[in-house]
Amino acid sequence: MLPKYYEFQNPVKINAGMDALETIPYELKQMNASRPIIITDKGITNAGLLKTVLNSFDDSDITIGVVFDETPPDSSLKTVNNIAKLYRKHKCDAIIALGGGSPMDTAKGVNILISENTDDIRKFMGADRLKSNMQPFIAIPTTSGTGSEVTLVAVIYDEENQVKMPFTSSKLLPDVAVLDPRMTMDLPPKITAATGMDALTHAIEAYTCLQKNPMSDAYATAAIKLIGENLLNVIKDGKNKEARFAMANASTMAGIAFSNSMVGAVHAIGHACGAVAHIHHGTAMAILLPYVMEFNNDVLGDLYAELILPLAGADIYAATGASKRSQKFIGLVKSMNQKINELCKMPIRLSEAGLKKEQFEQVAETALNDGAMLPNPKELSKNDVLEVLERAF
Ligand SMILES: [Fe+2]
Repeated sequence: MLPKYYEFQNPVKINAGMDALETIPYELKQMNASRPIIITDKGITNAGLLKTVLNSFDDSDITIGVVFDETPPDSSLKTVNNIAKLYRKHKCDAIIALGGGSPMDTAKGVNILISENTDDIRKFMGADRLKSNMQPFIAIPTTSGTGSEVTLVAVIYDEENQVKMPFTSSKLLPDVAVLDPRMTMDLPPKITAATGMDALTHAIEAYTCLQKNPMSDAYATAAIKLIGENLLNVIKDGKNKEARFAMANASTMAGIAFSNSMVGAVHAIGHACGAVAHIHHGTAMAILLPYVMEFNNDVLGDLYAELILPLAGADIYAATGASKRSQKFIGLVKSMNQKINELCKMPIRLSEAGLKKEQFEQVAETALNDGAMLPNPKELSKNDVLEVLERAF
């Protein structure tokens, strides 16, 4: 059934291909920019990815204003302020974010400070507070998972007050997302697996949560198909360029889907596992996904049943009786986890990922206060969360 009303937005231009980085100088020129800052982290520099990006500016008349490669794993207020100072000092006129979630969020924070001409980002915390025209902004993801290159959210950590500050505005969306498989070719199998399962969770939750709509459904199912066809292959052979490219596309499509329809209880509980026990986000998603689906199954079973087709193909869909399809889908996700565990030792139980039983209460309390609980179509009580944790332990 279609929703009575919905909104869908994705103004991000996607430049995707084996040499997509080489389009960046053209895109900057189109936006009247010639002196970008590059915001990344040390891991990206050490992996040689920054060099590859810098090489793509050879033979162009773009000058890199400054490179900042000290973004911490969790984007921080202090870092955002420091980068904004560098941006002004070096007279930059565009932002290039290169990395996973943290450089993307950091770049979005810098864009707020520069574009709103302020030194205090806290004034713009919350939803739709940005009014100014933003700086030209190009995002180059180096993992296939977060979808940050097409999401309108940034979370910046305020160290002084020890709070995570959320910023939501369509103005935070990059102008261009560049998907170039050279950026993910050397990702270790475990990170490839965890980030890929994060993308799968984005797509499944987008397809099943309360704000789903026909546009987000289209992106979600297309993402699930590519993940079903490519994730295990790319864990087995990280140098498989086609599979890497397919996963980059899947991650971006899943990002577009959930940016427009939200995520649900897997993310709420996963965020809490990250906050309480520092479990990697993608790993938490992979572990929790089947158990939250089992909890949701009496409400969402018909939708899970439909997803066998994109995840596993027509033969398996047709060979499964209608009444067994939702359980089959959950079983398929569990068996993906099992295969991933065999291939790269990614944990598939919360106990293996570092959660302690005595942390269950705190995880449950934190999860119930997470914004991602609201769009989950079935309400969870504290006991329900505890039961999911127990089953996933
Ligand atoms: Fe996620």
